[in-house]
Amino acid sequence: MKIRAARRQDREQVLAFCKHTFSWGDYVDRVWDTWFSAKNGRLLVGEHGGRPVAMSHVAICPDNSAWLEGVRVHPEFRRSGVATELLERMLAHAGRLGARQASAIVAINNTASQRMMEKNGFIVISNWVYYSTEAKLGARKTGARRAGPGDLPAIWEYLKQSRTYRQSAGRYVRSWQWYMLDSKAMRQLVKEGRVAVAGAPIDGIAIINNDGYWGRTDVLQVVYLDSEKSARDLLSFATNLYGQGGFSRLHILCHESRHLTSMVEKFRIKESERFLLYSKVITG
Ligand SMILES: CC(C)(COP(=O)(O)OP(=O)(O)OC[C@H]1O[C@@H](n2cnc3c(N)ncnc32)[C@H](O)[C@@H]1OP(=O)(O)O)[C@@H](O)C(=O)NCCC(=O)NCCS
Repeated sequence: MKIRAARRQDREQVLAFCKHTFSWGDYVDRVWDTWFSAKNGRLLVGEHGGRPVAMSHVAICPDNSAWLEGVRVHPEFRRSGVATELLERMLAHAGRLGARQASAIVAINNTASQRMMEKNGFIVISNWVYYSTEAKLGARKTGARRAGPGDLPAIWEYLKQSRTYRQSAGRYVRSWQWYMLDSKAMRQLVKEGRVAVAGAPIDGIAIINNDGYWGRTDVLQVVYLDSEKSARDLLSFATNLYGQGGFSRLHILCHESRHLTSMVEKFRIKESERFLLYSKVITG
């Protein structure tokens, strides 16, 4: 198997074996063009007999860690080490660019991929849950508000002692990539008006993405949720934005903690999927 950079003409042949990857299909057709032309990443293809039979993408995140995604091996070529070779190539590429950590997300029911990650030295650092609804949700009272730059010190005080922040591995989601939620990222998110806080002093934080992802703008996403006491207020704040903003779908992505999931379920939003966040230190 020859592993090489993807070429423009690989697209159709790759998409042909990525149509029915999962029970719901696949998303590679929606991201191929973005991944192909992205400056911060590398789209790889595995070639056999002159045709592409495997693919994967590695992106270098703003925090300089590597994000691995879109590992696909044609069903006829599985269990012969192709994905392992793709992982090695992605880690080597990221390492050359100075990344010291690589992460990836795997669905809870994808045992093949979990075994593959574990065999290649990745460990689970966090469990996440993903909710999705198209339901119309009525307006609710909320004590949450949009955070301003003056809230940053209190936001950090809160996060420093937050169990959920630790359990979330200090990450939030951006276009289905889990990024470090460090002080630089938080400052930028507050500046962009994407952070909601509750309580005085602050006892809860949500990060909300109202720009969609992969060219899709009709989705409002809660991409980080953290509160023992005010999750209801934060979710009401988000569902009000969803209701008022003319969005057609609401996503909630958060750490799989009982106090968070039971609160989301009170809004009668159903779980779509659970994910394991894997990570590995890049050496050498
Ligand atoms: C998951 C996937 C990428 C693995 O590709 P692959 O080329 O077959 O993987 P490898 O041959 O490198 O396997 C490495 C190890 O992973 C584990 N593994 C791979 N497939 C497995 C399966 N079906 N069941 C159990 N373990 C599996 C094994 O430990 C394997 O080592 P072994 O063959 O020596 O036992 C492939 O099955 C695939 O394309 N699946 C659909 C897409 C997908 O799920 N992508 C990952 C999304 S997160």
